[in-house]
Amino acid sequence: MMVEEKDKNQNGQELLDVDEKGQTIPKKEEKKPAAKGSETFTHVLLIFLACVLLGLYLKIFVFYKNVEKTKEYHKYKTADDMFRNIGETIIRFVKQKPKARIGLASGSTPEGLYKYLINKYEKGEVSFRNVEFFSIDGFCGLEKSDKNSYHYALTNSFLSKIDAQEENIHLLKEEGKTLEDFKKNAEEYNELLAKKPIDLQLLSFGENGHIGFNEPNTDFDLLTHVVELTEEKRKDKSKIFGSMDKTPKYAITQGVQSVLNAKEVIAFAKGSGKAKAVNDLVNGVFTKNSPITALINHNGKVTVCTDEEAGKSVKQYNKKF
Ligand code: GLP
Repeated sequence: MMVEEKDKNQNGQELLDVDEKGQTIPKKEEKKPAAKGSETFTHVLLIFLACVLLGLYLKIFVFYKNVEKTKEYHKYKTADDMFRNIGETIIRFVKQKPKARIGLASGSTPEGLYKYLINKYEKGEVSFRNVEFFSIDGFCGLEKSDKNSYHYALTNSFLSKIDAQEENIHLLKEEGKTLEDFKKNAEEYNELLAKKPIDLQLLSFGENGHIGFNEPNTDFDLLTHVVELTEEKRKDKSKIFGSMDKTPKYAITQGVQSVLNAKEVIAFAKGSGKAKAVNDLVNGVFTKNSPITALINHNGKVTVCTDEEAGKSVKQYNKKF
C-alpha cells in the first residue's frame, strides 16, 4: 500500500489513525474503481483468440488426416503423360525426404517411368544417393547375374543408371537351392521391412489384378513369402527361360499385407487389358479375385494412375475413391 504525503508527519513518519481507546485503526485500502469495460474487452479478445487457435488446429489436423488417408485416381491421355506426372511426384518426394525408402515395381509397365527418372537424374535435377530401394518380387533359384532375374532387370533398367548406392539397395534375394533357402530369404525380408518400412511403394499389376506373385484368391494377410508357380504360369514364363526345365518352380514376393504396410502407394497401369482391374479398384469393388483391389483398404495415401486405355471403363479423369 502506498503511503500518501498527507498521511506523513513532518519527519516523514507515517500517521496512523487512533480510536478513542488509543488503539491504532488499520488503514483501509483504497479500492480503485474496476475498469469494467476493459475487463470485458480482454475476456472477449481471449475467447476470440482461443477460437482462432482451435480453428487453426482443426484445419491443420483435418488437412494432415486427409493427406495421410486419401485415395485418388488420375487418368492421362498417354502413358508418357502418366510417367511424367508420376516421375515428378517421385522427384518431389525424394527432395522432401532424401532418405526415402522406395519400393520398386517390376514388369514392363514401369520401364517408361524409370526412363523418365534416369533422364532427370542425368540432367542433374534429382539425386537418389541416399534413397533406399526395395523390390516386390523375384524368381527363386537365380543368381543376381542371371539375365532373367528380377535383380538383373531392376539393376539394368534403373538402379545402375542413377546414383543409387550399393549399400542402399535391398532387393529380394532370388538365390538359393532348396525351398528352405527360399523361405529363409522371405523371412529375412520380412525382418528387414519391419526395421525399414517402405515410405513409397510403386506398384504395377497384371490384367487379373495380381500384384507381385500374389495371384487372385491368395491370402491377403500374407507378408513376404514363397509361391509355388502353377503349371500355367510356368508355361507362360518358359518363353523367357527357353524351356520348362529351366523355368523356376518357385517365386518370392512381398505379400498383399506387405504392400498395405507401405506408407504410400502409387499404382499404375497402361493398356486396355488392365481396364477391368482398374475399374474395380477405383470404384471400390473389393474382391479376393483381384489382389490390387486390396488397396481399397490401405490406411495411407494411394494414388492410381492410368493412361486413357487402361482407364477406359472409368468415366472420370480424376476422382477420389
Ligand atoms: C509380373 C510381375 C508383377 C507385375 C506384372 C505386371 O507378373 N511379377 O510384379 O506387376 O508382371 O507386368 P506388366 O507391367 O509387364 O504388365
